[in-house]
Amino acid sequence: MFLKILSAGITGLDTTLVEVESDISRSLSNFIIVGLPDMAIQESKERVRSAIKNSGLQFPTTRIAINLAPADLKKEGPSYDLPIAISILITENNYKINNVNLEESLFVGELALDGNLRPIRGAILFAHAAKTAGLKQIFLPEENADEANLIDDLLVFPVKNLTTLIKYLTGDNCLSPLPKKTAEFCSPQIYDYVFEHIKGQENAKRALEIAAAGGHNILMSGPPGAGKTLLAKSLLSILPELSAEESLEVMRIYSVVGLLKSSNLFLSRRPFRFPHHTTSGVALIGGGTYPKPGEISLAHRGVLFLDELPEFPRQVLENLRQPLEDGTVVVSRAATSVQFPAKFIFIAAKNPCPCGFATDTIKKCVCTTTQIIKYNKRISGPLLDRIDLHIEVPRVEFDKLSTNQISEKSIEVKNRVQKARNIQTERFKNTKIITNHEMNHDHIKLHCSIDTETINLLRSAMNQFNLSARSYFKILKLARTIADLSSSPNILINHVAEALQYRPKMIQ
Ligand SMILES: Nc1ncnc2c1ncn2[C@@H]1O[C@H](COP(=O)(O)OP(=O)(O)OP(=O)(O)O)[C@@H](O)[C@H]1O
Ligand SMILES: [Mg+2]
Repeated sequence: MFLKILSAGITGLDTTLVEVESDISRSLSNFIIVGLPDMAIQESKERVRSAIKNSGLQFPTTRIAINLAPADLKKEGPSYDLPIAISILITENNYKINNVNLEESLFVGELALDGNLRPIRGAILFAHAAKTAGLKQIFLPEENADEANLIDDLLVFPVKNLTTLIKYLTGDNCLSPLPKKTAEFCSPQIYDYVFEHIKGQENAKRALEIAAAGGHNILMSGPPGAGKTLLAKSLLSILPELSAEESLEVMRIYSVVGLLKSSNLFLSRRPFRFPHHTTSGVALIGGGTYPKPGEISLAHRGVLFLDELPEFPRQVLENLRQPLEDGTVVVSRAATSVQFPAKFIFIAAKNPCPCGFATDTIKKCVCTTTQIIKYNKRISGPLLDRIDLHIEVPRVEFDKLSTNQISEKSIEVKNRVQKARNIQTERFKNTKIITNHEMNHDHIKLHCSIDTETINLLRSAMNQFNLSARSYFKILKLARTIADLSSSPNILINHVAEALQYRPKMIQ
């Protein structure tokens, strides 16, 4: 007896339809799985055997051969348990399938030994694969159903255990597809860190507003307790909501690493990643035998915050150089090379020296010049050059801290950011880019023209501060965002002058 059931495999963020073929023949008892399965799939023999028996169903006592096609694609993970068990049961018992057409159905799920289904990683990708292949429905574990249900034009059947699924397939109406919901995309967000709770720091807030509006990177330097971490965490509250398209991009990444929960579907809230300085290069960038996205991809369309930047090992930070430039990261391993998206706002915080008070106006710094130079050298020049806004965050004066006056609310800043983003959406409507930060030289030529007076200002600043070519283009892009924030179609001299303030004071 021979049968074919459809499932899918994931490589990076790409999916391939996999045919799970089963053949049961009358010869000595044996159970083999071929088609480049990994260890987890080899072990699925034991899970499938126990799950079938403990569900009170008949496991064959003869020879079972399972082939996962295409045979040249490496298969990984336990999600093939369900299609393997289903194909064995239908073939062995010669079940007549009534409720659905098997050729239009995709099956994924890990089996527990008692026949229940355990959640899997990548449900949204599996659902997308099913839809792209023109299938009508997907059967998957209950816990993953909400996630898969975000894909339109596909029936999503949440399955509790093997017995229920077999009953349904053979004609009992014990399962039904989830109803589709769409309204949640516009629900308002509540943030833990907001601008109205931060006293003073107007300059830093202005820089964050520019960063949010144009998607620019930002580095804050200042004494301990000045509020750098607080400011960075509040960046999320002024960023525009995710569009439906961006939301799906983010959820695909979270789904593949198993971090997408029904309660946290990133429907409109942007991701905020905050890795500790002991994080490894692989955890930051992505990798592993079967490459998985790292922190920079988990921050895609959101924020990556590296607090205490000089404490990160230099070689870990150097890994950021290429993704910061390209917005993607390519992870190569012996067997495969996969690309993950990594378009995020990079925000970092540091002290100016080991004791933290080198730039403070009140407390005296106790570091030697050599210590300060050594400390600042931990971050390479090329990495600093990739940062658009360099700002000082000084200590807040007592009067500002003790005042009862409420600062401007995040929502008001967010509205201005949204307005500037709308201008950019219109500007880049026929291109793949979203923000000014992503402009290449052609876009800069087209959208960042300046008058003679402004050119002269820029020329003298370039000579005086010995700015790099990258800095020159960064200043123009920043000036474009500053102009957008004031709804000015042209970049004016005051926009460029403000952009120049955000270049680093010492390292050019
Ligand atoms: N401007 C401010 N308004 C209100 N509270 C503030 C402000 N600055 C600091 N604080 C308070 O001080 C605490 C410490 O601030 P924060 O951790 O952001 O400082 P930091 O600059 O990151 O210091 P460090 O360099 O030591 O990491 C905050 O949790 C907050 O309670
Ligand atoms: Mg801090």
